[in-house]
Amino acid sequence: MRHKIAPSLLAADFLNLQKEVEMINNSEADWLHMDIMDGVFVPNISFGFPVLEAVKPILKKPMDVHLMIVEPQKFVKEVAAAGAYMMNVHYEASTHLHRTVGAIKEAGMKAAVTLNPHTPISLLEDIIQDLDMVLLMSVNPGFGGQRFIEHSVNKTARLKEMIREKGLDTLIEVDGGVNLETGKRLLEAGADVLVAGSFVFRSPDPIQTIKELKEM
Ligand code: DX5
Ligand code: ZN
Repeated sequence: MRHKIAPSLLAADFLNLQKEVEMINNSEADWLHMDIMDGVFVPNISFGFPVLEAVKPILKKPMDVHLMIVEPQKFVKEVAAAGAYMMNVHYEASTHLHRTVGAIKEAGMKAAVTLNPHTPISLLEDIIQDLDMVLLMSVNPGFGGQRFIEHSVNKTARLKEMIREKGLDTLIEVDGGVNLETGKRLLEAGADVLVAGSFVFRSPDPIQTIKELKEM
């Protein structure tokens, strides 16, 4: 399977959101990544459900929603209603993760668990069989445009090995500091989906940049 590219709306021009979404529609992007932050789980606040609802009717690609919030299980219904295809909840924010993953699937979405850079993949040992995807953070969540954490390449390779050993088909998504150089190494290590925020939206020609990310 060819890898997927999920541009992150966090780096878009919010004054021209419609234009940005149309650019995504016209590009080779596979998904649109949407970052929701609460100022508690991460030291920043981004946007919430009204923005997802506004984007939903014009977006022609699946929505990949990344919740950087405490108690994400409280919002499963809202995320589904906002049109999400994939719902990512942080391992570190979820006490009853198995129940939350079940609720996400019952609401008709794909379920993904996100790990902060310091959270070991070994903690997925007894939940990975229930997941559609694991999202590895390659920066500390909360902000776009940060420097890529090098250890993420090794972490991706080890997660790929865990998935292979168990005979699963769980996707690996990596988020933070992705560009053509880090992206290529993540793909070699086994990543299936790459999130890219500033590298796409701050480039002079985002459609071309997405194409280059697809063709890596
Ligand atoms: C960070 C977010 C990322 C962010 C990535 O907390 O989860 O999705 O938008 O931005 P870049 O690609 O600029 O590192
Ligand atoms: Zn994200």
